[in-house]
Amino acid sequence: MNRPRILVARAIFPEVIERLQQHFDVESNPEDVLWSKTQITEKLRDKVGVFTTGGERIDAEVLAGCPHLKICANMAVGYNNFDLDAMTAARVLGTNAPDVLTETTADFGFALLMATARRISESEHFLRAGHWTRWSYDMFAGADVHGSTLGIIGMGRIGQGIARRGALGFGMKVVYHNRSRLDAAIEGECKASYVSKEELLKTADHVVLVVPYSAASHHTIGAAELALMKSTATLINIARGGIVDDAALAKALHEKRIAAAGLDVFEGEPKVHPDLLTVPNVVLTPHIASATLPTRLAMANLAADNLIGFLVNGKPLTPLNPEVLG
Ligand code: DGY
Repeated sequence: MNRPRILVARAIFPEVIERLQQHFDVESNPEDVLWSKTQITEKLRDKVGVFTTGGERIDAEVLAGCPHLKICANMAVGYNNFDLDAMTAARVLGTNAPDVLTETTADFGFALLMATARRISESEHFLRAGHWTRWSYDMFAGADVHGSTLGIIGMGRIGQGIARRGALGFGMKVVYHNRSRLDAAIEGECKASYVSKEELLKTADHVVLVVPYSAASHHTIGAAELALMKSTATLINIARGGIVDDAALAKALHEKRIAAAGLDVFEGEPKVHPDLLTVPNVVLTPHIASATLPTRLAMANLAADNLIGFLVNGKPLTPLNPEVLG
């Protein structure tokens, strides 16, 4: 019997490959080779589905070379690697992996906020380098988190998780800005007040970015926005590279126009703007906000569920462009 042929573009959990093999002929990538766009297009020529991990670009050029492709299942909640309009035009379904990573990612957002405000990375480097020879009253004095004002830009599920942690755990005043205002019930649950982006930037002690990437959200924070922030403020980006103008941020950090930043995502990652590497007051992590093994396994299983749900049962779990199903 001819089974549907799918491609798994990166190395993933062996048990998830085994699940997929129960339903499909699977071409996998156990060596985790970083295939080029041309190689992926070539490999997809005879496939009906692809398991992507968020870094593989699927656009009109790729789709033109893959006449049998029906579904691209992303193991990530963000899907800016998909040109969804081109996929819809080609009648290819996109799916993502929401919900299963919400609390893990909110934990990380809060951890990065704490590490940045309290200068944990900077002080650890100092200690490891053998510079700690005596106590001084202002050594690595950072910013308080408890009782301060938390500003969240992008108040989806992860933003709400960070708001709850801030308000309920740390007694923070929470303000948020979002494309649309949330229901009063959710605002109440998160103890968060809606404000303009300008007011948020002017008043927050800690600004956390959780907004999805799109052309409209490109450089949500640039030189003009950084100039509005308090000189004592911290900026945390766990959203996507490109939401922040990294060159403008590096300049603001060098000039101490804001106190510090915590960045998990970068423009052009895995490359990092060289000026960010030379400022001490920034905590840099390699896009690991969702990285706990149980959560990564749940994300991989959800992408597999989408492939099985759609290609075997006609019912994907988390479709991004359900109009292609009709
Ligand atoms: C996501 O799921 O979008 C996170 O950034 C992890 O890749």
